[in-house]
Amino acid sequence: MQVPNDKKAHTRQVGIDDVAVGMFVEDIITDQGGLFVEQNMKIGSQQQIDSLKKRGIKAVRINTQKGMDAKSDAGADATGEGKEAEVNYDTELAKAVIIHKEGIIKVGEVLKTIRNGRNFSLVMVRNVAESIVESIIRNRDALVSLCQIKDNDNYTYTHSLNVAILIVAVANSLKYPADRLVEIGMGGLLHDIGKMRVPESILNKPGRLTDTEFAMMKRHPEFGVESILDQRGIADITKKVVLQHHERYNGKGYPFGIKGERIHEVGLISAIADVYDALTSERVYKAALTPQKALAMIFRNSDKEYSNKIVEQFTRLMGIYPVGSFVKLTTGEMGVVVRMDREALLAPSVLILFDRMGNRLKEPHTMESLNRQAGKPGEVHKIEMSLNPAAFNIDVGEYIVNNSLILNK
Ligand SMILES: [Fe+2]
Repeated sequence: MQVPNDKKAHTRQVGIDDVAVGMFVEDIITDQGGLFVEQNMKIGSQQQIDSLKKRGIKAVRINTQKGMDAKSDAGADATGEGKEAEVNYDTELAKAVIIHKEGIIKVGEVLKTIRNGRNFSLVMVRNVAESIVESIIRNRDALVSLCQIKDNDNYTYTHSLNVAILIVAVANSLKYPADRLVEIGMGGLLHDIGKMRVPESILNKPGRLTDTEFAMMKRHPEFGVESILDQRGIADITKKVVLQHHERYNGKGYPFGIKGERIHEVGLISAIADVYDALTSERVYKAALTPQKALAMIFRNSDKEYSNKIVEQFTRLMGIYPVGSFVKLTTGEMGVVVRMDREALLAPSVLILFDRMGNRLKEPHTMESLNRQAGKPGEVHKIEMSLNPAAFNIDVGEYIVNNSLILNK
């Protein structure tokens, strides 16, 4: 089948085993060659991939302009100028672990101060935001990879920090200047401060909220802005993050129900960062989703609840198997993704925790970039699926941090 030249530049063939959520499939390839798919489709779920496999499809042609590539270029696609990281991932990770740990403590102090009705330290908030921005400018992946570290007992603190990190990382890939990134990051850190005015009995209620309780909860973005209004030196863009993180692209959000471009771009970014971290966290009323399921859910709502442009930036940034994903390989071994390879998103480094028979290893070992690993003759190490680590009693955060310690010994 002939593919027009202008189309060829952005399309490439991918084997069915390498198809992932976020890709845009234009053609399906059969033994007889290419066959146009009647409706070009974005892969939004594993079920869609399974259905292609069941139909005997061996390969597809993807459009890398309309969707994700197996080789990510986050940050380069917005302007076409790819930028080398100033510091490599392993080196930055050691610093990022400290920024993450201290960040949670400082955010905790700020939120507790507000809960007690006192003025919080804006300097402290700015310092945390600056350390996030500096880390992400040095290396865009290290601090982001730590967002998979969850602390259920300190959910609000960890969540606020993770949201700030994710917002800054996306805004950085959209080429916001550093001083703006700090203001945006401060918004991320403060985005839920309005919840400090909502009674804890409502915040931590395991069951469904009543209409009155929900109405109270939905006012937290406004309460948040009110709480920081009298603080001097708060930028408008910081307030936009706080006020608009629950607005939705289709107008079905709150508190104002504004839609589309009426929502500031940082509001659109905040919405995705907030929901991704919430979905991948365990709460009293729900289990944590795997990063892949959370990304798929966001992808399905692209151009509905979330801006298509921001969803694409976000999925490129996170990759296919973000650090902290718990995965099963085609060999049966299972482990935690400890390093992403932007040149080969389907072949990250995995710390193997379970052998082929499913036995827990006494001494885990790292399998660097999977497709370069030799296995038994004719065997390929590939990721077969992602799994819920809680079902295997695995705390992925522990392994991410330990890995950084091993790397920097
Ligand atoms: Fe919120």
